[in-house]
Amino acid sequence: MNLAVVKSLSDNRSATLADQLCAPIVMSEAAESSPYPFFLVYRDGCLKLLDRQSLRKGGLAVDIEPRPGEQHSYPAPKKDLLAQAIGKKSRTIVDATTGWAQDSLALFRMGYEVTCIERSPVMVALIRDGFERLAQKDWVQKRELLPPTLLVGNAIELLSGLTEKPDCIYLDPMFPPKRKKSALTRKSMTVLRDILGDDRDRQELFDAAFAATGRRVAVKSPDYAEPLGGKPNESYQGKLLRYDVYLK
Ligand SMILES: C[S@@+](CC[C@H](N)C(=O)[O-])C[C@H]1O[C@@H](n2cnc3c(N)ncnc32)[C@H](O)[C@@H]1O
Repeated sequence: MNLAVVKSLSDNRSATLADQLCAPIVMSEAAESSPYPFFLVYRDGCLKLLDRQSLRKGGLAVDIEPRPGEQHSYPAPKKDLLAQAIGKKSRTIVDATTGWAQDSLALFRMGYEVTCIERSPVMVALIRDGFERLAQKDWVQKRELLPPTLLVGNAIELLSGLTEKPDCIYLDPMFPPKRKKSALTRKSMTVLRDILGDDRDRQELFDAAFAATGRRVAVKSPDYAEPLGGKPNESYQGKLLRYDVYLK
């Protein structure tokens, strides 16, 4: 494994996490001289993923705050490209590629009923930590909302076992990069690619999603990528990315 869990003296959750992930554990003083390129650490009240540059401070956690420019009301208005791709009349969404959960959480704040699927155990640990923090938020508690349900495993298998067909299955798999790493690529996505690589089974995932959805599949992809399911019924063009929508 290319990742270790960092333990400080005062922290006992890290041993449990290392056990769950079958990951090595290193004491914080020894992390810098250890051979691992990535680390998980409980820091600043959340679980963070670190690379060597962020060992001393910083790190990446699931961000549960509204995106810049997003209205802080609940439900937030369904006005961006993501909402258009999901469909304003959709109610139940399965995000089959949850990752840092930024799309899932934006959809949750818009009032959609979101179920998340993620197969990477490292991302699952980070998402769980984020959803636990979300459950503690005043606005969530006041409205008696529950964070999205998280299903762990390969969506290609899990989607066929859903008890109810969701209105929309949302896919944002990792495509091979075209451009060199640039300021345009967010650090969180660069690290995800370094740890997990591309999602080479994305075509199979699309087929499983189309078979399992009630109404539509929405796929986020880079603007240079071929549409995953052939010619889409609708397409929403953003800056460097595109949402392709396939209706059943
Ligand atoms: C590009 S990231 C998604 C980013 C996400 N939309 C966000 O807002 O943070 C892709 C994620 O999907 C997950 N993934 C890809 N294919 C999957 C599959 N077949 N089953 C479950 N998870 C999958 C990867 O492990 C990775 O964490």
